[in-house]
Amino acid sequence: MIYSKTEEEIALMRKSCLLVGKTIAEIARALRPGITTASLDKLAEEFIRDHSGVPSFKGYVVHGKTYPYSTCISCNDEVVHGMPGPRVIVEGDIVSFDCGVYLNGYHGDSAYTFPIGEVNPSILTLLRVTKESLMLGIEKAVLGNRLLDISSAIQTHVESHGYSVVRELVGHGIGRQLHEKPEVPNYGKKGNGVVLKSGFTLAIEPMINKGHKEIITAKDGWTVATKDHQPSAHYEHTIAITSGKADILTTFEYIEAVRNEYIGTLQPELHG
Ligand code: MF3
Ligand code: CO
Repeated sequence: MIYSKTEEEIALMRKSCLLVGKTIAEIARALRPGITTASLDKLAEEFIRDHSGVPSFKGYVVHGKTYPYSTCISCNDEVVHGMPGPRVIVEGDIVSFDCGVYLNGYHGDSAYTFPIGEVNPSILTLLRVTKESLMLGIEKAVLGNRLLDISSAIQTHVESHGYSVVRELVGHGIGRQLHEKPEVPNYGKKGNGVVLKSGFTLAIEPMINKGHKEIITAKDGWTVATKDHQPSAHYEHTIAITSGKADILTTFEYIEAVRNEYIGTLQPELHG
């Protein structure tokens, strides 16, 4: 059963989603070489609770296991579900930060992959193409299209660059529950899947590997990494299907404003 949300419910979800976007921007502000992933998780949890939200991931049960942190922080060859801890971020890393917020009865979910300092240009291309694939998928998330039109747009774009789509992990419906029907794969044939209806709310989240698509789960039972140890990127938006273009409920606007400020401080000559 796929739950269609009313306009009022979508308005509530927009609030949860806005807080997710602002939380990830707080992380963007703190993210630098030398910081531990545990301290980023703590910062995110405090920010969410200070704004009357609850971290969606903390205490979330998957296959009988309880996730103990507020965020997932996945570095370099880690695809998703990296557990915050003593790991220190270093220059040249890519860091995927995934965060969910529960507020007023509804969840919002978003993820962003950050390059830290100077990063190998071929890895920056992986980040750009993965983010582009998310936006191309969202362009297909319109009334009357089919679910796998989204998936196909993502897959076609990333494979045209020689990257691969993780198969075992997918996007999802979202609302009163963090994970609702339908599953939103990042691969598939257009023209297939359910017809998209008004009020569907989806978390679309391409997880894209620079090398091969195969993944392994670490001994901690959570962290998913690429089998070939090549880097992986992850961007996620929560969207609503309404009339016309999809309504993107989460936002990268605050995140990217922080990133641009940061670049401004590195290259003052470009900014007068
Ligand atoms: N953001 C992940 C998703 O979209 C959720 C993380 S699972 C958790 O599916 F257990 F860590 F919360
Ligand atoms: Co998600």
